[in-house]
Amino acid sequence: MNDIRESVPWAARLEPKLLKSPWWIGHIPFAFELIGRQRPRILVELGTYSGSSFAAFCQAAEACGAGTKCYGVDLWEGDMHMGSFDEGLFREVSGYMAANHPQTAVLVRKDFNAAVGDFADGSVDFLHIDGTHTYEAVRNDFTTWLPKMSERGVVLFHDVNVTVENVGEPARHFGVRRFFDETKAAYPHAEFDHCYGLGVLVVGRGADPEVLALVESCRTQAWRDYFAARGGEISTRFANSGVKLPVHSAYGAAVPLWRRAANKARRILRRALDSARAA
Ligand SMILES: C[S@@+](CC[C@H](N)C(=O)[O-])C[C@H]1O[C@@H](n2cnc3c(N)ncnc32)[C@H](O)[C@@H]1O
Repeated sequence: MNDIRESVPWAARLEPKLLKSPWWIGHIPFAFELIGRQRPRILVELGTYSGSSFAAFCQAAEACGAGTKCYGVDLWEGDMHMGSFDEGLFREVSGYMAANHPQTAVLVRKDFNAAVGDFADGSVDFLHIDGTHTYEAVRNDFTTWLPKMSERGVVLFHDVNVTVENVGEPARHFGVRRFFDETKAAYPHAEFDHCYGLGVLVVGRGADPEVLALVESCRTQAWRDYFAARGGEISTRFANSGVKLPVHSAYGAAVPLWRRAANKARRILRRALDSARAA
C-alpha cells in the first residue's frame, strides 16, 4: 500500500472540501488522481445533483493548474431514482460553485440531450455519466456524447455495482452494469466495486501515457484495494459529519405539473436575463 501511495500523489494528498451525499464520494481519490494526471481542458459531468462529485472534479482541476473548464449538466428537477427536487437544491449548488470555483465551474441547466449541442465534436477530455441509470438512459448518454470526446478522452460511469443485495428492489431498474459489460471490451478499461461501482473507459486513441498507466494499474486487486480504502476514509468522514440528506418527494405522477412549468419558466427567464446582461 505504501508503494502505491507514492505512485498516486493526487489521491494521497488532496482532501475533498464538499461532501453532501454518500453515494459517490468513495471515488473521489481516483477522480483526483485521474484529473491530476490527465489535466483535462474540458470536463463534463452528466448528473451533478448536490455537487459532491462535481466539486471534487473542480478542486482537482484547480490543483493541477490546467485551466480546466468543468461543466455540470443537470435539470435539477430529479429523476425516477432520486425523486423530485425543489428549487432550493439548485440555489445551494450554484451558490457554492459561484463562491468556491468561479473560474472553473459552469452549471448547465439543461436536459443532457439538449446540452450536447453546446459542445464541439472532439472537445471533451473527461466525461462523467451519472444521470438516470436505466440501461436505455446510460446507452443514450454514452452514444450521444461519444462524438464529443477528444483523442485524450476518458469516460466514467457511476453505479456499475448496484445490486439487489446493496440497494434492494430499485436495483432492478439499473442497467449501468449491463451497458458497461457490453461496451468495455472495445477500450482500455478498469472498474471499482466500492461505493456502488465506477467504470472507467479510455475512449480516446491518443490518451496520455500516465492515464493509461493508471487505468492499467487499477486492473490489479492491490490498486483497487488502495482506492477502496482511501475512498472509505472519505465515506467515514461523511458518515461522522452529521450532514443531513434532503428528502425528495416521489418523481412522476406526484410531481405537480405547475412546479415543472414554474421551473421551466424560471429557466427561460434566467436565460433571457443572462442574454440581456451580455448584450
Ligand atoms: C445520481 S444524481 C447525480 C449525483 C452526483 N453526481 C453526486 O455526486 O452527488 C443524478 C442527477 O441526474 C439528473 N438527471 C437525470 N437525468 C437527466 C437528464 N436527462 N437531463 C438532465 N439531468 C438529468 C437528476 O436531476 C439528478 O440530479
